[in-house]
Amino acid sequence: MKRVCVTGAGGYIGSWAVKLLLSKGYVVHGTVRDPCDETKNGHLKKLEHAEERLHLFKADMLDYESLCAAFAGCSGVIHVASPVPLHVASTVPGLRIPNPQVEQLDPAILGTQNVLKACSKAKVEKVVVVSSGAAVMVNPKWTSDMELDESCWTDIVHANSTQNWYALSKTKAEMEALNFAKRHDMKVVTICPSIVIGPMLQSTINATSLLLLSYMKEEGRARGDSMENIKRPYVDIRDVSEAIILLYENLESNGRYICSAYTLTTKEFVAKMECLYPGYNYPKIFRGQTSSASLNSGKLLKLGWNYRPLEETIVDTIKNYEEAGFLEKGKPFPSTVTF
Ligand SMILES: NC(=O)c1ccc[n+]([C@@H]2O[C@H](COP(=O)([O-])OP(=O)(O)OC[C@H]3O[C@@H](n4cnc5c(N)ncnc54)[C@H](OP(=O)(O)O)[C@@H]3O)[C@@H](O)[C@H]2O)c1
Repeated sequence: MKRVCVTGAGGYIGSWAVKLLLSKGYVVHGTVRDPCDETKNGHLKKLEHAEERLHLFKADMLDYESLCAAFAGCSGVIHVASPVPLHVASTVPGLRIPNPQVEQLDPAILGTQNVLKACSKAKVEKVVVVSSGAAVMVNPKWTSDMELDESCWTDIVHANSTQNWYALSKTKAEMEALNFAKRHDMKVVTICPSIVIGPMLQSTINATSLLLLSYMKEEGRARGDSMENIKRPYVDIRDVSEAIILLYENLESNGRYICSAYTLTTKEFVAKMECLYPGYNYPKIFRGQTSSASLNSGKLLKLGWNYRPLEETIVDTIKNYEEAGFLEKGKPFPSTVTF
């Protein structure tokens, strides 16, 4: 039976990757920072087949030895763990990470270096590194009529000077991963998902689910009933986890892969939500329109990836938020970060 390790197993994407691997018969090692933290990681133990085939390991990405222990015996590693600040998609000024080196850059970049070194030591055959559209899109050279493919990289000088620490961390980590692969003749594939949305398996809300919730809850918006009309690329969490496993299993996969399904403005997105679920507190006024280049997932589609209709994503996500109680009247927005 194939044994694969997922780093950051308790997070939004990590949990779905674990669920899919278990459903496909894999033995799964999952790294979490605190296996006893039931609020963060309890959901993993309840996944189907978790009792027989999921093994949780306590590991921090900055602790090389803890990674070596988690990867021992694994033929594959899916590296997901990296900090995603709650305000990552917020345009509200003044939201800064107090110590970006320690909180963002080191865990992402040194973390990826540690993961790859530990993979090399454990003789892991293939690694899939979850990078981000943020490693593709942040570049003043890109114009809104462009379609970006895998040859496009975020400009690290620009990301640094604009203090876009998330984009900087993901770009440097992905570059490091691909360079490490070349230097050590190791099979490493990277995936750059756009904004990931869809039902959550975990009970603590992640950054991009928070963004979507702000479309439905006025308390999540800095300016009450109005919102900036931003053109953004989105992809369903279940399609992302399918893509990750496809890249892991497919012998032909190679290099970077953009993973994005739909690009639409906030106004267009909200109109679709309102049509399917009227009655929630959607924004009424849309300010301006910022558009950006779009992402081209052609390379991944050619490998056999597919994605579900946006309507399915919206229906399943809102059902999930209703079940989690986020949409109950009077229930506060689950964060101090607003959009
Ligand atoms: N969501 C998106 O739209 C999106 C899009 C593109 C790429 N991504 C990438 O996907 C990955 C997961 O994101 P997500 O949306 O699933 O966010 P998430 O739910 O916040 O997950 C982040 C995970 O990283 C772990 N982590 C952070 N720092 C760590 C450290 N020093 N050591 C060990 N674990 C650490 C967290 O562990 P704890 O639970 O212990 O904090 C958590 O499991 C990230 O690499 C992110 O850049 C996300």
